Amino acid sequence: MKLAITGPTSGIGAVAFSQLTPYFDEIFLVARNESKANKLIQSLSPNDQKKVTFIYCDLTDMDTVVSAAKSIKEKTAILDVLINNAGGIFQNKEITKDGFEMSLAANHLGHFLLTHHLLPLLLASPSPKVINVSSEAHRAAKVDFNDLNYEHKKFSSFLSYANVKLFNILFTKSLSEKFGEKGLRAFALHPGVVKTNFGNETSGLFGFFWKLSAPFMITAEEGAKTTIYLAKTKIDSLKNGYYFKKSRPVKPSSEANSKKMRDRLWKESEILLKKWL
Ligand SMILES: NC(=O)c1ccc[n+]([C@@H]2O[C@H](COP(=O)([O-])OP(=O)(O)OC[C@H]3O[C@@H](n4cnc5c(N)ncnc54)[C@H](OP(=O)(O)O)[C@@H]3O)[C@@H](O)[C@H]2O)c1
Repeated sequence: MKLAITGPTSGIGAVAFSQLTPYFDEIFLVARNESKANKLIQSLSPNDQKKVTFIYCDLTDMDTVVSAAKSIKEKTAILDVLINNAGGIFQNKEITKDGFEMSLAANHLGHFLLTHHLLPLLLASPSPKVINVSSEAHRAAKVDFNDLNYEHKKFSSFLSYANVKLFNILFTKSLSEKFGEKGLRAFALHPGVVKTNFGNETSGLFGFFWKLSAPFMITAEEGAKTTIYLAKTKIDSLKNGYYFKKSRPVKPSSEANSKKMRDRLWKESEILLKKWL
């Protein structure tokens, strides 16, 4: 069994990576910080270390996403599980070198592109899975598909994060809808409110409440549980495309279930990423 995971260098992803390594024969550690990745690899047993390959990828730089997928394709013809875990909230509006708002690129577009290029490998597996780490924040989303890069409206750090976490669920549902018959399973999840590096650089009202809630947050070990459960467990095909919390399927917002929204997201993502698809 072969696994690829993004954002394994910190928090939830680091725990998921370390705990899942014994269950897989080969793991692709998809990350932007090679020295953090190497430290993580060195923390494994010598036997597990041999299974892991570092793949450079900055999800906000689409050329590197394409070359990351290419490197994985050069090393394997099959991929069983892809965990799209990396992400974050950004305090200020930043535009990537490709012209995308940073949280849109890091949380959605990079993963959309990576998944697209890895699909042939996933569909070559007898039971492929894509796991997308979303958030309960998706319930606060207010999406304007005509201004995904905040060219016209005022940027809000929390709202842009809520929108992209909604996109994670919409993308999950689209994957199950488009490729379910070919065997692909896709799941989204909320990890809990977890004490990681997430949100540490935010200020304003969100930053204030985030820091205030720190004593009540769960550990990364707790926060990684649903990701690990979904990666290891055979889930009933009737639950394909579902959103999970505490290792159980839960109902996401009504927007997250909207076919109109997910079809529009797919179309807009393809338009934005045309050059790299
Ligand atoms: N913590 C929470 O309470 C919470 C709640 C709901 C959902 N989530 C979601 O859980 C996921 C993991 O977050 P976390 O809490 O574990 O946060 P974290 O400790 O900040 O870890 C985020 C990971 O994403 C990677 N990453 C960020 N931007 C990237 C980019 N442009 N390219 C490649 N990798 C990038 C980071 O890499 P570096 O190490 O190089 O920075 C790191 O490995 C995220 O999708 C987050 O939205 C978290």
